[in-house]
Amino acid sequence: MKIAIIFFLFFAVGCSPSYKAGTPTSDPTNNNDNNNSDNNNNSDNTPPIADSDTLDWTFIKSKVLNSCVGCHGGSIAPKLTTKAEVIANKTTVLSEIDTDMMPPASSGLSLLSRCQKSALHAWLDAGAPDTSTILVGSLSECASEPPPPPPPIVYLDWNVVNQQALVSCSACHGKTYNTYANAKKRIKSILSVTSSGSMPPKNPLSQCQLSILKAWSGAKTPQTTNIPVATLKGCS
Ligand code: HEC
Ligand code: HEC
Repeated sequence: MKIAIIFFLFFAVGCSPSYKAGTPTSDPTNNNDNNNSDNNNNSDNTPPIADSDTLDWTFIKSKVLNSCVGCHGGSIAPKLTTKAEVIANKTTVLSEIDTDMMPPASSGLSLLSRCQKSALHAWLDAGAPDTSTILVGSLSECASEPPPPPPPIVYLDWNVVNQQALVSCSACHGKTYNTYANAKKRIKSILSVTSSGSMPPKNPLSQCQLSILKAWSGAKTPQTTNIPVATLKGCS
C-alpha cells in the first residue's frame, strides 16, 4: 500500500483546488465512493473531480483513461490516446474496465472507481462529445466523493521512479528494468535509450518522466531522497 499512498501524493500535487462539492465527512473510514473494502477508489492516480468538470473528451482523457496511456500510448495495443481510438475500441475498453482487468493488477495502478466507469459509459452513450454541459458531479456515482485531503509533497524515491518513469518497460522487458537492483545497475543504458527516444518503442517518455530518471541518476540512484518531484522539469 505504500506505493498507492505515494501515488496519491504524486498526482494530487498538481491538481485544482476546486474539488467536487460532495458532502465533506470527518469519518476516516468513509473515504471511498464504492462499497468494496479493497482499495479501488483510484484516488492514488487521478486528480479529483472538480465542480466544473463536464462529461467531455478532456475529462475522459485526463481523469478516466489517464492511467492507460502509459502502456496504451503506442507500443501496446489497443492505442488509446485519441478519441477516435477510444471509440474504435469501445467494446473491449468497457469490458476490460467493467471486469477490472485493466489497468493490470501487476502494474500497481488502481482500478477505475465507480465514478470513472460510469463517466466513461455515460460519455460513450452520449456519443463521445468533445464538449458537453453535463457536469460529471451530476452522475450519481460521482456525486458522493468527499474532497481529498490536502496534497503532501512527493519525493523522488525508487517507487516513484519505477511507477512513474519505468512502468511501461515491464510489459516487454519483464523485471529487467523494474527492480531496484536492476534499474540501479542499468541506469546508464536506461538513460541512453529513453533520452534518445528509442525506448519505449514509438512511445517516448514525457519530459517529466525523463527528468525523474535524470535526477535519480544524478542523485546516485538512491532508494529514497528529499528531492520533491514537483520541482523537476516538466513535473509541476
Ligand atoms: C502497465 C501497462 C498497462 C496499463 C497501465 C493498462 N494496460 Fe491495457 N493492456 C496491457 C497489456 C500488456 C495488454 C495486452 C495483454 C493483456 O491482455 O493482458 C493490455 C490489453 C488491453 C486491452 C485489450 C484486451 C483484449 O482482450 O483485447 C484493452 C481494451 C485495454 N488493455 C485497455 C486498458 C485500459 C482502458 C486501461 C486504463 C484504464 C489500461 N488498459 C491500462 C497493459 C496495460
Ligand atoms: C513494446 C515493447 C518494449 C517496451 C515497452 C520497451 N522496450 Fe526496450 N526493447 C524492446 C525490444 C524489442 C528491444 C530489442 C530490440 C532493439 O534494440 O530495438 C529493446 C531494447 C532495449 C534496450 C537495449 C538492450 C540491449 O541489450 O542493448 C534497452 C536498454 C531498453 N530496451 C530499455 C527499455 C526501457 C528502459 C524501457 C521503458 C522505459 C523499454 N525498454 C520499453 C522492446 C520494448
